[in-house]
Amino acid sequence: MTVPGWPAPAKINLFLRITGRRDDGYHDLQTLFQILDWGDELQFSVNDNGRISRHCNISGIPEHEDICVLAAKKLQCHAGISQGVHIDLVKRIPMGSGLGGGSSDAATTLLALNRVWSCGLSGQQLADLGLELGADVPVFVLGRSAYAEGRGEQLHAVSLGQPFYVLVFPRLAISTAEVFRHPELKRNSRRLDWSEFKNTRMRNDCLDVVLRLYPELENLVNDLQEYGEPRMSGTGSTFFLQFDSKNAAIKAASNLKCRYNVRVVGGVDVSPLLDRLSVSW
Ligand code: C5P
Repeated sequence: MTVPGWPAPAKINLFLRITGRRDDGYHDLQTLFQILDWGDELQFSVNDNGRISRHCNISGIPEHEDICVLAAKKLQCHAGISQGVHIDLVKRIPMGSGLGGGSSDAATTLLALNRVWSCGLSGQQLADLGLELGADVPVFVLGRSAYAEGRGEQLHAVSLGQPFYVLVFPRLAISTAEVFRHPELKRNSRRLDWSEFKNTRMRNDCLDVVLRLYPELENLVNDLQEYGEPRMSGTGSTFFLQFDSKNAAIKAASNLKCRYNVRVVGGVDVSPLLDRLSVSW
């Protein structure tokens, strides 16, 4: 019998403002996370020997460095679990694409193993563990499109309707840390109230530095402007266009696909992972 896999959806940042630098080396952000209906998939086979292992459909992520292995070890240790697990990871979200693939894999690992190992941790406890693995993990544990502040862990679920997006992947893996440590990164955006966002352009404060590091992306931005207002997710490298209808998104994608690697996806308020778990928190 094939047990259906556990989804690890991608996200995009509809806007990203950097409002300051923190003492812990991170930055204070204001961002709007949109969860997508597309992403990676994981399967978990529990064992009684305590070993944690992983197989992945792509090479390039050593097992002992894989964030889902780190997540499993963290939960096993925190909850005092003697069982182990073999993780089968199907990666579709490109690495270094600003779509939160690794963070989502880690969140799915925490939530799925909390269930199959019967750890009994609450959503908040899992989000706290997740934050130790990466700033984007908590939003995937919450499993909702959300407005975020702080490092990205102060989350307020929002309803964003049913938009469609054309994702454009420039075949470029960008290091988040490299962008955040760049001396010319804009770090002084005014902190806005939620009520002000409606009338504010959805910009990404990392864009200028990314275009400076990778000037070849200017052509992509210019090309996408023909179809709408291109935005960048996170620290890149994915750019996206937003549409109200799936047909409009498909039309733009079919024009772009001879030059770029593109995918049409839907935005969702609730992650497919929460649906799979039948939980709500
Ligand atoms: O937490 P995560 O490992 O995903 O972040 C990668 C890097 O991005 C961090 O090491 C940090 O340099 C930077 N970052 C930041 N401020 C944030 C999120 C990430 O400076 N709010």
